[in-house]
Amino acid sequence: MAITDWATFRRSAAVAALVAHLFGVVAVILMLVWVFHFRGGVDLNSDNEQHIFNVHPFLVHIGFTIVAGEAIMAYKIIPLKHPLQKLAHMAITLIAFVMGIVGIYAVFKYHHDIHVLQMYSLHSWTGMGTICLFGFQWLFGFLTFMYPRASGQTRAWIIRWHASSGLIIFLLAICNIQSGLSEQLLFLGLMRDKQARVMNFTGLMTILYGIAVALTVLLPQ
Ligand code: HEM
Repeated sequence: MAITDWATFRRSAAVAALVAHLFGVVAVILMLVWVFHFRGGVDLNSDNEQHIFNVHPFLVHIGFTIVAGEAIMAYKIIPLKHPLQKLAHMAITLIAFVMGIVGIYAVFKYHHDIHVLQMYSLHSWTGMGTICLFGFQWLFGFLTFMYPRASGQTRAWIIRWHASSGLIIFLLAICNIQSGLSEQLLFLGLMRDKQARVMNFTGLMTILYGIAVALTVLLPQ
C-alpha cells in the first residue's frame, strides 16, 4: 500500500476514535442520568434493593462496555511506544473485566435478596457467556503476549485471532446492553415517558459507540 493510502487510513481511524468518544461520553451521561436521577442511585450494601440492582447497569455499561471500548482503542489513541500501549491495553481490559464482575455480582445479590431465580433469561445467558469469553480472552492474551509469552511467529499468527475475537466479544457486550435495557423497560412497564426515552437513547448511543470503536479497528490495516 502506498504511503499516502496508509496515512489516509490512519487519519480515518483517528476520526472514528474521535466520533467514538463523542458517542461514548453522551452514552455515559445518559446512563448516569438514568441511574441517579430516575432510579435513585447505586449502593451495593443498601437496604433498598433497587439501589443494589442499579449497580448492575451502572458498572456493566460504563465499565464492561465503554471502558472495554477504550482498551480496544488504546493502540490508536495513546501516543506512546508499542510496549506501553500494550500495557495500557492489558490494564484497561482488566479494569473493564473487574467492573463487569462486580456488576454481575450486584444483580445476583439483588435476585438473592428479593428471592428471584438466577439465570432464567436470555439476557442472563448471553451476559454470562460474554463475560466468560472476555475472561478467557484476557487470560489467553496475557499468556501469549505478556507472560510467559509465545514465540514471535506464534504471536504474529495469534494476534489476528486475538483482535477479531476481542472485537466480537466487545460487540456481544454492546448487544447485551440492548437486551438488558429492553428487558428492564418491560419490567418497569415503561413505554413513552421521559425515563423510557433516556433508556432508549442510552442504548442507541451505545450502539453508535460500538460501531465507531469497531471502525477504529477495521479501518487501518
Ligand atoms: C454487557 C452488559 C451486561 C451483562 C454482561 C449482563 C449480565 C447479566 C447477567 C449474567 C445476569 C443474570 C444475573 C442473575 O441471574 O442473577 C443479568 C441480569 C439482569 N440484567 Fe444484565 N447484563 C448487562 C447489561 C444490562 C443492562 C444495561 C441492563 C439494564 C438495566 C441489565 C438489566 C438486567 C436485569 C433486569 C437483570 C435481571 C433479570 C435477568 O436475569 O434477566 N443488564 N445481567
